[in-house]
Amino acid sequence: MKIFIDTANVEEIREVSTWGFIDGVTTNPSLIAKEGRDIVDVIKEITTLIDGPISAEVHEGLAKDMVKEAIPYAKMHKNIVIKLPMTIEGLKACKELTSKGIKTNVTLVFNLTQAVAAAKCGATYVSPFMGRLDDITLGTGAALIEDIATVFATYEYKTQIIAASIRNVEHVNQALLGGADVATIPFKVLKEMLNHPLTTKGLVIFADASKKK
Ligand code: E4P
Repeated sequence: MKIFIDTANVEEIREVSTWGFIDGVTTNPSLIAKEGRDIVDVIKEITTLIDGPISAEVHEGLAKDMVKEAIPYAKMHKNIVIKLPMTIEGLKACKELTSKGIKTNVTLVFNLTQAVAAAKCGATYVSPFMGRLDDITLGTGAALIEDIATVFATYEYKTQIIAASIRNVEHVNQALLGGADVATIPFKVLKEMLNHPLTTKGLVIFADASKKK
Protein backbone atom coordinates (compact mmCIF):
# COMPACT_ATOMS: atom_id res chain seq x y z
CA MET A 1 0.00 0.00 0.00
CA LYS A 2 1.28 3.48 -0.84
CA ILE A 3 1.21 6.08 1.93
CA PHE A 4 0.43 9.73 1.15
CA ILE A 5 0.37 12.60 3.60
CA ASP A 6 -2.92 14.43 3.77
CA THR A 7 -1.93 18.07 4.25
CA ALA A 8 -1.08 21.35 2.52
CA ASN A 9 1.36 22.31 5.27
CA VAL A 10 4.76 22.36 3.60
CA GLU A 11 6.64 22.08 6.91
CA GLU A 12 4.85 18.80 7.69
CA ILE A 13 5.61 17.60 4.14
CA ARG A 14 9.26 18.67 4.44
CA GLU A 15 9.55 16.70 7.69
CA VAL A 16 7.96 13.47 6.44
CA SER A 17 9.88 13.64 3.15
CA THR A 18 12.91 12.54 5.22
CA TRP A 19 11.10 9.53 6.77
CA GLY A 20 11.62 7.30 3.76
CA PHE A 21 8.11 5.89 3.25
CA ILE A 22 5.90 8.76 2.05
CA ASP A 23 4.80 8.23 -1.56
CA GLY A 24 2.64 11.29 -2.29
CA VAL A 25 0.47 14.15 -1.03
CA THR A 26 -3.23 14.99 -1.08
CA THR A 27 -4.63 18.45 -0.51
CA ASN A 28 -8.19 19.80 -0.55
CA PRO A 29 -9.75 23.30 -0.34
CA SER A 30 -10.00 23.14 3.48
CA LEU A 31 -6.34 22.13 3.84
CA ILE A 32 -5.23 24.85 1.41
CA ALA A 33 -7.38 27.51 3.15
CA LYS A 34 -5.82 26.52 6.48
CA GLU A 35 -2.40 27.55 5.14
CA GLY A 36 -3.60 31.01 4.02
CA ARG A 37 -1.55 30.74 0.83
CA ASP A 38 -2.36 30.60 -2.87
CA ILE A 39 -2.92 27.01 -4.07
CA VAL A 40 -0.47 27.44 -6.97
CA ASP A 41 2.34 28.53 -4.64
CA VAL A 42 1.62 25.66 -2.23
CA ILE A 43 1.43 23.00 -4.94
CA LYS A 44 4.59 24.31 -6.61
CA GLU A 45 6.47 24.07 -3.29
CA ILE A 46 5.13 20.57 -2.64
CA THR A 47 6.44 19.39 -6.02
CA THR A 48 9.96 20.25 -4.80
CA LEU A 49 9.52 18.19 -1.62
CA ILE A 50 7.90 14.89 -2.67
CA ASP A 51 8.52 13.02 -5.93
CA GLY A 52 5.13 11.32 -6.13
CA PRO A 53 1.44 11.98 -6.91
CA ILE A 54 0.26 15.37 -5.61
CA SER A 55 -3.50 15.98 -5.61
CA ALA A 56 -4.76 19.52 -6.28
CA GLU A 57 -8.55 20.01 -6.07
CA VAL A 58 -10.47 22.24 -8.49
CA HIS A 59 -13.55 24.25 -7.54
CA GLU A 60 -16.80 22.29 -7.92
CA GLY A 61 -18.90 23.47 -10.86
CA LEU A 62 -19.56 22.74 -14.53
CA ALA A 63 -17.28 20.22 -16.23
CA LYS A 64 -15.99 22.80 -18.70
CA ASP A 65 -14.97 25.15 -15.91
CA MET A 66 -13.28 22.42 -13.87
CA VAL A 67 -11.36 21.25 -16.95
CA LYS A 68 -10.32 24.86 -17.65
CA GLU A 69 -9.06 25.27 -14.06
CA ALA A 70 -7.36 21.86 -14.07
CA ILE A 71 -5.18 22.21 -17.16
CA PRO A 72 -2.76 24.87 -15.79
CA TYR A 73 -2.41 22.82 -12.57
CA ALA A 74 -1.59 19.71 -14.61
CA LYS A 75 1.01 21.64 -16.61
CA MET A 76 2.82 22.65 -13.40
CA HIS A 77 4.45 19.26 -12.88
CA LYS A 78 4.26 15.64 -14.09
CA ASN A 79 3.20 14.51 -10.59
CA ILE A 80 0.07 16.65 -10.39
CA VAL A 81 -3.21 14.75 -9.98
CA ILE A 82 -6.44 16.71 -10.46
CA LYS A 83 -8.97 16.19 -7.69
CA LEU A 84 -12.58 16.33 -8.89
CA PRO A 85 -15.84 16.21 -6.90
CA MET A 86 -18.07 13.10 -7.12
CA THR A 87 -20.78 14.87 -9.15
CA ILE A 88 -22.12 14.27 -12.67
CA GLU A 89 -20.13 17.30 -13.84
CA GLY A 90 -17.12 15.94 -12.00
CA LEU A 91 -17.46 12.64 -13.87
CA LYS A 92 -17.68 14.47 -17.20
CA ALA A 93 -14.53 16.42 -16.30
CA CYS A 94 -12.86 13.17 -15.24
CA LYS A 95 -13.61 11.60 -18.62
CA GLU A 96 -12.25 14.63 -20.49
CA LEU A 97 -9.11 15.06 -18.41
CA THR A 98 -8.40 11.33 -18.67
CA SER A 99 -8.68 11.58 -22.46
CA LYS A 100 -6.01 14.31 -22.29
CA GLY A 101 -3.71 12.02 -20.29
CA ILE A 102 -4.19 14.00 -17.07
CA LYS A 103 -4.35 11.97 -13.85
CA THR A 104 -7.51 12.37 -11.77
CA ASN A 105 -8.68 11.69 -8.23
CA VAL A 106 -12.47 11.60 -7.76
CA THR A 107 -13.10 12.67 -4.18
CA LEU A 108 -15.97 12.82 -1.65
CA VAL A 109 -16.85 9.21 -2.46
CA PHE A 110 -19.19 7.60 0.10
CA ASN A 111 -20.66 4.55 -1.64
CA LEU A 112 -19.82 1.72 -4.01
CA THR A 113 -21.80 3.01 -6.98
CA GLN A 114 -20.03 6.38 -6.86
CA ALA A 115 -16.66 4.58 -6.90
CA VAL A 116 -17.70 2.39 -9.84
CA ALA A 117 -18.98 5.36 -11.86
CA ALA A 118 -15.67 7.17 -11.30
CA ALA A 119 -13.71 4.07 -12.31
CA LYS A 120 -15.77 3.74 -15.49
CA CYS A 121 -14.95 7.38 -16.28
CA GLY A 122 -11.27 6.48 -16.13
CA ALA A 123 -10.39 8.02 -12.77
CA THR A 124 -6.79 7.31 -11.77
CA TYR A 125 -7.88 7.34 -8.12
CA VAL A 126 -11.10 7.36 -6.10
CA SER A 127 -11.11 8.72 -2.54
CA PRO A 128 -13.66 7.07 -0.22
CA PHE A 129 -13.89 9.07 3.04
CA MET A 130 -13.59 6.61 5.93
CA GLY A 131 -13.68 9.09 8.81
CA ARG A 132 -16.73 10.99 7.66
CA LEU A 133 -18.63 7.70 7.19
CA ASP A 134 -17.57 6.49 10.64
CA ASP A 135 -18.68 9.83 12.09
CA ILE A 136 -22.20 8.65 11.19
CA THR A 137 -21.92 4.85 11.65
CA LEU A 138 -18.75 3.27 13.02
CA GLY A 139 -17.24 0.63 10.74
CA THR A 140 -18.91 1.74 7.53
CA GLY A 141 -15.69 3.34 6.32
CA ALA A 142 -13.80 0.06 6.49
CA ALA A 143 -16.68 -1.83 4.90
CA LEU A 144 -16.72 0.56 1.95
CA ILE A 145 -12.98 0.13 1.35
CA GLU A 146 -13.42 -3.65 1.31
CA ASP A 147 -16.44 -3.46 -1.02
CA ILE A 148 -14.71 -1.16 -3.51
CA ALA A 149 -11.56 -3.31 -3.48
CA THR A 150 -13.64 -6.45 -4.11
CA VAL A 151 -15.66 -4.95 -6.96
CA PHE A 152 -12.65 -3.27 -8.60
CA ALA A 153 -10.83 -6.62 -8.56
CA THR A 154 -13.89 -8.50 -9.87
CA TYR A 155 -14.35 -6.18 -12.84
CA GLU A 156 -10.62 -5.46 -13.25
CA TYR A 157 -11.00 -1.69 -12.93
CA LYS A 158 -7.58 -0.05 -13.03
CA THR A 159 -8.63 2.82 -10.77
CA GLN A 160 -6.69 2.94 -7.48
CA ILE A 161 -8.41 3.34 -4.10
CA ILE A 162 -7.13 6.12 -1.81
CA ALA A 163 -8.48 5.57 1.71
CA ALA A 164 -9.14 9.13 2.84
CA SER A 165 -10.57 11.05 5.79
CA ILE A 166 -8.36 8.97 8.09
CA ARG A 167 -8.78 9.91 11.75
CA ASN A 168 -6.70 7.31 13.59
CA VAL A 169 -4.30 4.34 13.33
CA GLU A 170 -7.25 1.91 13.24
CA HIS A 171 -8.35 3.52 9.97
CA VAL A 172 -4.86 2.87 8.58
CA ASN A 173 -5.11 -0.77 9.66
CA GLN A 174 -8.55 -1.04 8.05
CA ALA A 175 -7.24 0.49 4.83
CA LEU A 176 -4.37 -2.02 4.78
CA LEU A 177 -6.59 -5.01 5.54
CA GLY A 178 -9.37 -3.80 3.27
CA GLY A 179 -7.15 -3.69 0.20
CA ALA A 180 -6.78 0.05 -0.40
CA ASP A 181 -4.01 0.93 -2.87
CA VAL A 182 -3.19 4.09 -0.94
CA ALA A 183 -3.95 5.60 2.46
CA THR A 184 -3.69 9.37 2.73
CA ILE A 185 -2.84 10.15 6.32
CA PRO A 186 -2.69 13.36 8.38
CA PHE A 187 0.68 14.24 9.96
CA LYS A 188 -0.67 13.58 13.48
CA VAL A 189 -1.75 10.00 12.57
CA LEU A 190 1.50 9.35 10.69
CA LYS A 191 3.38 10.00 13.94
CA GLU A 192 0.90 7.98 16.03
CA MET A 193 1.13 4.92 13.76
CA LEU A 194 4.89 4.63 14.41
CA ASN A 195 4.51 4.59 18.19
CA HIS A 196 3.63 1.89 20.72
CA PRO A 197 3.92 2.08 24.55
CA LEU A 198 5.94 -1.16 24.62
CA THR A 199 8.42 0.29 22.11
CA THR A 200 8.91 3.31 24.37
CA LYS A 201 9.22 1.04 27.43
CA GLY A 202 11.69 -1.24 25.65
CA LEU A 203 13.87 1.72 24.64
CA VAL A 204 14.11 2.79 28.27
CA ILE A 205 15.04 -0.74 29.38
CA PHE A 206 17.73 -1.00 26.70
CA ALA A 207 19.07 2.47 27.48
CA ASP A 208 19.30 1.62 31.20
CA ALA A 209 21.00 -1.68 30.41
CA SER A 210 23.54 0.09 28.20
CA LYS A 211 24.49 2.40 31.09
CA LYS A 212 25.26 -0.51 33.41
CA LYS A 213 28.99 -1.42 33.52
C1 E4P B 1 -8.23 13.62 1.11
O1 E4P B 1 -7.98 13.69 -0.04
C2 E4P B 1 -9.47 14.19 1.73
O2 E4P B 1 -9.78 15.46 1.17
C3 E4P B 1 -9.30 14.27 3.21
O3 E4P B 1 -8.76 13.05 3.67
C4 E4P B 1 -10.58 14.61 3.92
O4 E4P B 1 -10.38 14.47 5.31
P1 E4P B 1 -11.46 15.07 6.34
O5 E4P B 1 -12.68 14.21 6.24
O6 E4P B 1 -10.78 14.97 7.68
O7 E4P B 1 -11.71 16.50 5.90
